Amino acid sequence: MSTKKYQWFKIANSQDELVFPAGNLLTVEVNRKKITLAKYKDTLYACAFACPHAGGIMADGNIDATGNIVCPIHRYRFNLQNGRNTSGEGYYLTTYPIEIREDGVYAGIVEKSFFNL
Ligand code: FES
Repeated sequence: MSTKKYQWFKIANSQDELVFPAGNLLTVEVNRKKITLAKYKDTLYACAFACPHAGGIMADGNIDATGNIVCPIHRYRFNLQNGRNTSGEGYYLTTYPIEIREDGVYAGIVEKSFFNL
């Protein structure tokens, strides 16, 4: 059982308010920190703003046909659900849970890692 404790931050009043560009990746601010939002097959995902390899801006990358986010710098791929480095270089991309609530869209940030976004 997970013992992660999240702080939840509202990122939009509704899903309609989140207007994605063609690549379905967007940078948003959560409590003054940038994170990446991704939309794949009508599901929202959230991950770190910067690539764990060398700091590529993940929202400048793309989502591949199987739902991995692809860094724009060296093309490393990460699973949007769990951050696993599916291209095999051994890195891990921090991901954040998204909740769609009646009053809006929320992202959960693990309290312990909050300052390491
Ligand atoms: S900076 Fe992202 S793969 Fe190198």
